[in-house]
Amino acid sequence: MEPPPVHDLPPTLLEAIHAAGQEHVLRYWPMLSRLERAHLLDQLMTLDWRGLGELRRLASAARSASAAAGVPFDLDSASTPPCHRLGGAGGAEAAAAGREALAGGLFGAVIVAGGQGSRLGCHGPKGAVEIGPLSGDSLFDVLLGKLRGIRRRYGRPVPLAIMTSSSTEADTRAWLADHDHGGLAPGDVMVFRQRDLPALDDHGASLLLDAPGTIAMAPDGHGGMLPALVDAGGLDWFAERGVRHVVSFQVDNPLTMPLHPEFIGHHLIHDAEFSTQVIRKQQPGERVGVVATSGGRYFVIEYSDLPSALAAERESDGRLRFHAGSIAVHAFALDFLRRAAASPVPLPLHLAHKAVPHLDSAGDRVVPREPNAIKFERFIFDLMPLAERVCVVEIDAADGFAPLKNPPGAAADTLAHVHAAMEAHARRLLARAGIDVAAGVRVELAPSILDEQDVAAILPAGTRIGRDTIIGG
Ligand code: UTP
Repeated sequence: MEPPPVHDLPPTLLEAIHAAGQEHVLRYWPMLSRLERAHLLDQLMTLDWRGLGELRRLASAARSASAAAGVPFDLDSASTPPCHRLGGAGGAEAAAAGREALAGGLFGAVIVAGGQGSRLGCHGPKGAVEIGPLSGDSLFDVLLGKLRGIRRRYGRPVPLAIMTSSSTEADTRAWLADHDHGGLAPGDVMVFRQRDLPALDDHGASLLLDAPGTIAMAPDGHGGMLPALVDAGGLDWFAERGVRHVVSFQVDNPLTMPLHPEFIGHHLIHDAEFSTQVIRKQQPGERVGVVATSGGRYFVIEYSDLPSALAAERESDGRLRFHAGSIAVHAFALDFLRRAAASPVPLPLHLAHKAVPHLDSAGDRVVPREPNAIKFERFIFDLMPLAERVCVVEIDAADGFAPLKNPPGAAADTLAHVHAAMEAHARRLLARAGIDVAAGVRVELAPSILDEQDVAAILPAGTRIGRDTIIGG
């Protein structure tokens, strides 16, 4: 059956479009093919028009607000919470508890991999980007390899849920199919898709067309994880596999160690509902959110929400007052996720200025280099204030944080930075295992090498590496 002409679209839909002043989305309707019309009609019918009004109100409020205006916490009385240091007091006891939990199969994992990777200029999922300095392994290879390493050592799989979005779903599924699920049992891997929200033009007023028959939509932020996981039956999927706690982490950090026994051990020993890894923020200008506490609640303040005067304040010992930099590696009790998911209030929306491809007024498709639009995102860390008990664990950035965010040439977080961090990490770990690496030689750890114990199983202490080598590869 032919799709209807514009005037035959459902009257309630036309009313909603007119009431929202978004008639331009139908501009190309007469020129669209049947398929394109069906696609656009589907988008228009599923768009939350009432929610769009809310997005526009948020955008307009943000234009007139100052930094921190949207932060629902008293920043003046906030401070950095006490942090456990990896390798610090209580570390051995925590590591033992963590190892026992891994051997008992109590932990599952979620990789948030729905982002569009717009700064990097990704065409497919960031997880498929090759980052191994010598191997060319992809981020998925590396992250799923770590889970293989845990299964090998502890004899139990870590069930894995990968969050995708409309931008990454098909290619992520194809990657898994083409790569034997990264060596994991297919039954131990589930893929679930987060929701989309419309992007708005820079004035926060108008929907954008990505193509004549397509409204520009964007994934709703990594905070879309919980509702999407619930919709996909993910909490039950984990529970059926005996999982009681779930770690979540980002797809773009190959050094991440979300299942480090000491980290999850602290989480367990403190009976925490929400635990999080932080790195020491050294300079006020570092673009990381910080974990803070005030009035008995814990929360993360985005760097853009922290007024610069507060960001620059230092304690008497020279540390920044807000120095617990969040790296988005979290552990949650499954029961906490269930409780949070039942909350009638959704996580708040944050606005981000991003480069969004769109049709300009002449109908030409523009792929901007600079931010031209507003995307709306929810953040996982906004679950933190809902938790009764929070545990914060500080790790060394050099051992656990090297995100790939930016294209070549940028000042930080490029592929070159990731390579350098991976190689430096490999050298440190080899040194701890008593392996000598000749100057100028490049080394890379195979993904499933967890630590020096795995190295020792392959190479005796005292070995000298004289040429570029993938250890365990
Ligand atoms: P970023 O906020 O850095 O976004 O995501 P990005 O997509 O990687 O890159 P830009 O901002 O477009 O350049 C941090 C992590 O959160 C995931 C990403 O996949 C990455 O692992 N994420 C982000 C989602 O899963 N969904 C989202 O909607 C946004």
